[in-house]
Amino acid sequence: MKCELKRSFYVQHRGVYVPIALHPLESLKYAEEFTVRDDDIFIGTYPKSGTTWMQEIVPLIMSGGDLKPVLTLPNWDRVPWLEEHRAIELKLEDRPSPRILATHFQYPMMPKSWFNSKAKMLYVMRNPKDVFTSSYHYYKMATYLVDPGTCDEFLMKFLNGKVMFGSWFDHVKGWLNAKEKDRILYLTYEEMIMDLKGSISKICSFLGKSLSEEVMERIADHCTFKNMKQNKMSNYSLVPKQFMDTSKSEFLRKGISGDWKNLFTVAQAEFFDSVYKEKLKDVDFKFIWDK
Ligand code: A3P
Repeated sequence: MKCELKRSFYVQHRGVYVPIALHPLESLKYAEEFTVRDDDIFIGTYPKSGTTWMQEIVPLIMSGGDLKPVLTLPNWDRVPWLEEHRAIELKLEDRPSPRILATHFQYPMMPKSWFNSKAKMLYVMRNPKDVFTSSYHYYKMATYLVDPGTCDEFLMKFLNGKVMFGSWFDHVKGWLNAKEKDRILYLTYEEMIMDLKGSISKICSFLGKSLSEEVMERIADHCTFKNMKQNKMSNYSLVPKQFMDTSKSEFLRKGISGDWKNLFTVAQAEFFDSVYKEKLKDVDFKFIWDK
């Protein structure tokens, strides 16, 4: 993390709120003009949906279970964000194939070359009430983000898309409606919680990687919340306290589904549900958290 990170403000990039401290304009331009290769592997998420988890799982699948990449490189270097401030200095264009890249971009924000490529996308979704809960704690501890205000204030910002990477509803709907379905794997945080090895097996099939049951089990074991919390290359403990105030919350905080129940009042949950119902009324996808 660069030392000049300050509490951020938003800019609108293609109509979507983006915190300038993490995504200066030159980084957004770099991402937009980036040349995607056919064998690139993208991890796409709305923030707080399981990005860090995937930054652990996918390199381990690609290394055939060799722990070296996840024990020697911080998650932001091993699977860099295409649109982050560090992307330019990391020279992603010089990295050998297959590159593993992360993005929080909404579908229409992707680089032009992505649409003409065969690059694969692993798109992870999470119950938005848990995304909200995780975000609320994260915005409070990450001093370079925009202050979230009270829970009620943050709820209105979140539901109106006035948070980083915009509306959760637009993000998820945009990716679910993508034309390139043959090269997108849709995953949910909740199914990974319920059956991590099964999710790893699904990712392996999608990426054309054949791993033994034993290796997949080893990867699943390494990627449990408890074990990842101990990996200093993945638990954000390398970030100085002045940028992430872990006395307020940790980055790898609880790692469960349903924590929204500990934050929302009944009225807040009912209001959230009514907005959710309206915004997703034209979506066919059966979300695991609605069942
Ligand atoms: P909580 O704040 O609810 O604990 P992202 O990486 O997209 O920012 O998402 C962060 C969320 O994913 C945090 O949620 C974090 O704890 C959770 N997470 C990260 N690794 C995990 C793991 N191995 N198992 C379960 N949850 C994990």
